[in-house]
Amino acid sequence: MVVFAMGCPSGLRGLSLALLASTASAAVIPRDPIPDGFVAPPYYPSPYGGWADDWAESYSKATKLVSQMTVAEKVNITAGTGLFMVGRCVGNTGSVPRLGFPQLCLQDGPLGIRSTDNNTAFPAGITTGATFNKELIYQRGVALGEEFRGKGANFYLGPSVGALGRKPRGGRNWEGFGSDPVLQAIAGAETIKGVQEQGVIATLKHLIGNEQELYRMYNPFQRAYSANIDDRTMHEVYLWPFAEGVRAGAGSIMSAYNDVNGSAASQNSYLLNGLLKDELGFQGFVMTDWLSQISGVAAALAGLDMSMPGDTIGNAIPLTGHSHWMYELTRSVLNGSVPVDRLNDMATRIVATWYQFGQDKDFPPPNFSTNTADREGPLYPGALFSPSGVVNEYVNVQGDHKVVAKQVAQEAITLLKNDGGFLPLSTSTPLFVFGTDAQADPRGINSCVDKSCNRGLLGMGWGSGSANYPYLDDPISSLRRKAANVTYYATNSFPSVQTPGGGDTAIVFISSDGGENTYTVEGNHGDRDASGLVAWYNGDELVQKAAAKYSNVVVVVHTVGPIVVEPWIDLPSVKAVLVAHLPGQEAGDSLTELLFGEASPSGHLPYTIPVSEKDFPDSVGLVATPLSQTQDTYSEGIYIDYRYLNKHGIKPRFAFGHGLSYASFTFSNATIKRVPNAPLSEEPPARPPKLASPIAGLDVSLPDATEAYYPESGLDRIWRYLYPWLDKGDADKAYTIGVEGREKYPYPEGYSPEQRTEVPVAGGTNGGNPALWDAAYEVTVTVTNTNTGKAPAGKAVAQAYVQFPAGIAWDTPPVQLRDFAKTGKALGGGESAQLRLSLTRRDVSVWDVVRQNWIVPNPRGRYAIWVGDASDNLRVACYTDTLTCEEGLEPPV
Ligand code: NOJ
Repeated sequence: MVVFAMGCPSGLRGLSLALLASTASAAVIPRDPIPDGFVAPPYYPSPYGGWADDWAESYSKATKLVSQMTVAEKVNITAGTGLFMVGRCVGNTGSVPRLGFPQLCLQDGPLGIRSTDNNTAFPAGITTGATFNKELIYQRGVALGEEFRGKGANFYLGPSVGALGRKPRGGRNWEGFGSDPVLQAIAGAETIKGVQEQGVIATLKHLIGNEQELYRMYNPFQRAYSANIDDRTMHEVYLWPFAEGVRAGAGSIMSAYNDVNGSAASQNSYLLNGLLKDELGFQGFVMTDWLSQISGVAAALAGLDMSMPGDTIGNAIPLTGHSHWMYELTRSVLNGSVPVDRLNDMATRIVATWYQFGQDKDFPPPNFSTNTADREGPLYPGALFSPSGVVNEYVNVQGDHKVVAKQVAQEAITLLKNDGGFLPLSTSTPLFVFGTDAQADPRGINSCVDKSCNRGLLGMGWGSGSANYPYLDDPISSLRRKAANVTYYATNSFPSVQTPGGGDTAIVFISSDGGENTYTVEGNHGDRDASGLVAWYNGDELVQKAAAKYSNVVVVVHTVGPIVVEPWIDLPSVKAVLVAHLPGQEAGDSLTELLFGEASPSGHLPYTIPVSEKDFPDSVGLVATPLSQTQDTYSEGIYIDYRYLNKHGIKPRFAFGHGLSYASFTFSNATIKRVPNAPLSEEPPARPPKLASPIAGLDVSLPDATEAYYPESGLDRIWRYLYPWLDKGDADKAYTIGVEGREKYPYPEGYSPEQRTEVPVAGGTNGGNPALWDAAYEVTVTVTNTNTGKAPAGKAVAQAYVQFPAGIAWDTPPVQLRDFAKTGKALGGGESAQLRLSLTRRDVSVWDVVRQNWIVPNPRGRYAIWVGDASDNLRVACYTDTLTCEEGLEPPV
């Protein structure tokens, strides 16, 4: 059991009255001082949900249902029934059969349904981000939603926008969309819309600061690291994609494992009550990451709504039948330590979310088991003895999703270099292919659990964000299908080869893997702590040796994030380099069609490839202080990735947003207009008032102890299963304490049970003050493919970056991505298309830490909106003061 030092700012102080007794002998783990300036001030009580118009009907239905529930029934839906206990998914809640509220199935992960069959293994988030194609990102979301629904999973545990990609070595960056808040925000929101339109609840994760895997979790001897994030950085970078996700209607949010400013994310009142539920006006509910709950009452007060998978980690091993909630939450409500209205709010938020996505009507029950591939298996795998039954029905949910999966894989492929138009190749070119990454894992495409190895093609990273391949279209099979003359060397050490002929071309496949801390792969503990940003298995040497032998070399990189390419990028024989990211099951044709010119590359880097890892600040390196709490302090503030390099005048090897095409695009006829046509005010219009919540109408009197008694009949208790009930004696005792109010729970500093009347000035429902999303400027630009030759048609991407006016009181990055657009079709030689880019009020604002509001620093000043196809190739600028545009400029960075 973990107990914390007193004095923690946001309510880590106590555990429930009942738990205190059981923890008396436990070790006390000291908390290291958090650096000055990083605070998680107490924020209480937890704001009620149900004050947004677009959730009103769901809340009205939910309050009706919850008002009929006993205390034990309400509690039962706020937690999982225990790891591997009844239920086939990675998380399974309790249910209320008496009122028709089912057990809910929560299932990983962001790129497809984890650990099952007959599913699609979509390209990963990082690949999806690299498409810079909003419509396609949405379509992937639709397909994901259809698959989760088809398998009977109520929840899609994704998308992931945190890790945001602050640390190039971070293990889980690949689950998200790229190292920029706007790219994450747009891609996250499109995914949420696509998934939720299928009636599946998206779970935006991980709130917040889970930027590295090492020391991410609490254990009995050590606290998880503390992500120390200042207020402006929080708003302008890390919270930004969550705000957009809440605006897109995300039904649930998963908290992170780590601390934020010294207070555990799962019970951080500043984060959950303050930022998420009050400022962003989040109407859904918050669940923990798995086994991250570390206290009972404190977590409830701080705004946590659901504990997953229900067990405690404090005992080091789950499956001991212990929970901070379930029976303990029931006890805490009866004895008066958790106010009844908080439990009402938790339960109502969960039920309202279920209604909001229509899951009360015809939502199928799970037909798969994440625990086994066998048709029959234990119904309670975590129990000592369990009855068996059918757990896998092998329902095929793939539909035609391979089409969208392949399109994402293909549109993500990023051409870094193409000397002299070396690509595309002719299918008659003699090809000599090197590297095990070109072939499927010879031991089986799903031979490593959760992809915890990098054998054969790297199609996804490892951990809970992985999925089984139904099949794998590997590059070598595809090459053999398409090209006349292919010789493959399935090795990562350069073999002895015959002297190449003039036209011979080598294609070298290299990779770099990363994943979740649950597994260590080749010395990498999730993060790329052992490999760094270097291709695995001596990939650099393989390229160098191939380049020494062959005069034409194409390098294909499958990677979770940036790798340093200096050892070979300038070698004269290295003619072309393609980053294929993590393509999922459609790795083959998606790539070879580009190699042979059936389509043109159109992906763009979702992160910077630096010349050296040292070009980034030390603060974004991995941090570890094994004997005390690791402090991960965001001293670089808002300057991550390209923002940092630009600020310090450091040239990257390949800039964020870089990506070549076989086509040649020019941008012209740029226009800018104000929408509406009036200058912005410095401060946004006042937020709308906060409406009353129906939660306030629910009964808050102390429930009768009988509501908490174990049922007298009909329950065959399973050892280690987590139940919401108490034995009669325990329930009566807790109730007596509650009635007499004789033992006072040590409420956290700043705690008050009364709902606040003062509301955050920047707040509002669904993402904050709605005025922040008012369109402010619209830029249009014509993109033309000026190719006259026979080069294949290509899709073009326009990226819009804002440069704030000179002389303002805030330091701002030279340029910041604000929007992007991709042509709907590939443009042939001479063809044009118009692309539209929009900037909102928030896009031209900074977060003012004193006013606690989004401020347009100089509304009549000159904001330049730069447009181009990479962060370092911006040659068109439109100005907000004159509403004119200029073309053919020197890029600002
Ligand atoms: C831990 C991971 O951090 C989270 O992303 C995942 O959804 C849960 N485990 C459940 O597997």
